[in-house]
Amino acid sequence: SRSINLAVIPGDGIGQEVVAQGLKVLNAVLPQDVKLETKEYDFGARRYHATGETLTEADLAALKKHDAILLGAIGDPSVPSGVLERGFLLKLRFAFDHHVNLRPSRLLPGVATPLAGQPEIDFVVVREGTEGPYTGNGGTIRKGTPHEVATEVSVNTAFGVERVVRDAFARAQARPRKKLTLVHKNNVLAYAGHLWTNVFTKVAEEFPEVTTDYIHVDAATIYLVTDPGRFDVIVTDNLFGDIITDLAAAVSGGIGVAASGNINPSREFPSMFEPVHGSAPDIAGQAKADPTATVLSVALLLRHLGYDNEANRVEEAVSADLGGRGDTSRTTDEIGDALAVRVAG
Ligand code: NAD
Ligand code: IPM
Ligand code: MN
Repeated sequence: SRSINLAVIPGDGIGQEVVAQGLKVLNAVLPQDVKLETKEYDFGARRYHATGETLTEADLAALKKHDAILLGAIGDPSVPSGVLERGFLLKLRFAFDHHVNLRPSRLLPGVATPLAGQPEIDFVVVREGTEGPYTGNGGTIRKGTPHEVATEVSVNTAFGVERVVRDAFARAQARPRKKLTLVHKNNVLAYAGHLWTNVFTKVAEEFPEVTTDYIHVDAATIYLVTDPGRFDVIVTDNLFGDIITDLAAAVSGGIGVAASGNINPSREFPSMFEPVHGSAPDIAGQAKADPTATVLSVALLLRHLGYDNEANRVEEAVSADLGGRGDTSRTTDEIGDALAVRVAG
């Protein structure tokens, strides 16, 4: 019989609240014969205050045994900015080589958008997940003086860029419109820009059916607002991908509905699924968080593990729920309950 051995990392702030709903929907959608085993990991501010520790080697060894990881959010105002984010979240993405950070954006019918009219929005951002300025390569000299100098080195390897670009081409090839846009800043970032552009052009030869396009990241933020329909698949570096996917979320239903998968395509390590948003300390503990992004991340998780029917049912439940939403008065729990009822029925 089939089974899913899932690691659950609720994390900080609203992470706790939304992951509970994600699990509720997962339990409701899985058929009887699928055995779901979950193990919760207490990562985030509580663990850090109690032990001074962030992610350990023992944690990684334990996590490695799971089929997949569901994460809420990491980061808390009681800890200096970045300590938990780097110490838990980024460490995990790097250790498990989550180089494909998949962030789909789809504006569902009837869902509010700040954009004029109801533009067609259906694209996916393939954000590189293990390189760029996220590698922690940098330094400070004369710290704290008026002459402080800080460097933050963006690391881009031919190997790392090529594998994520090839993954994005394959995804574009599999979609009806077969279009891939490289987003970078090759007019200023001479070295990384050259590497990305060259690799993109070279890999394109393997995918003659895919239409290609290049847009500077600043201009991409214009088109995401004025003409989002032009995008099908976008491939971009780690930091640009972080920034444009919050914008993408904002125009396609809001940050409360944006899902992501941190994928290790070789399956050597478990992939990790999480909402694009963070721990939202401004609304934590108030039952105001929208759990839809986490529920849609559960759909990505299901599809990754081969449960396509169940993934589709979760996405259909969200479409139906969002289409009929209209007001924002429901609590986190009420939205989770409504989605669980829809996937079960
Ligand atoms: P955030 O995404 O937590 O919040 C940004 C805004 O979006 C806030 O106004 C918040 O109330 C709103 N929001 C977020 N999720 C929502 C939801 N599900 N429903 C309704 N509204 C929602 O970003 P931030 O404020 O920049 O960061 C807060 C903390 O989270 C920081 O510590 C940051 O480092 C961390 N963070 C973690 C992750 C992650 O774990 N993957 C992602 C982003 C930010
Ligand atoms: C995200 C977050 C993280 C990132 C932070 C919290 C490290 O913003 O998942 O989008 O920058 O990748
Ligand atoms: Mn982000």
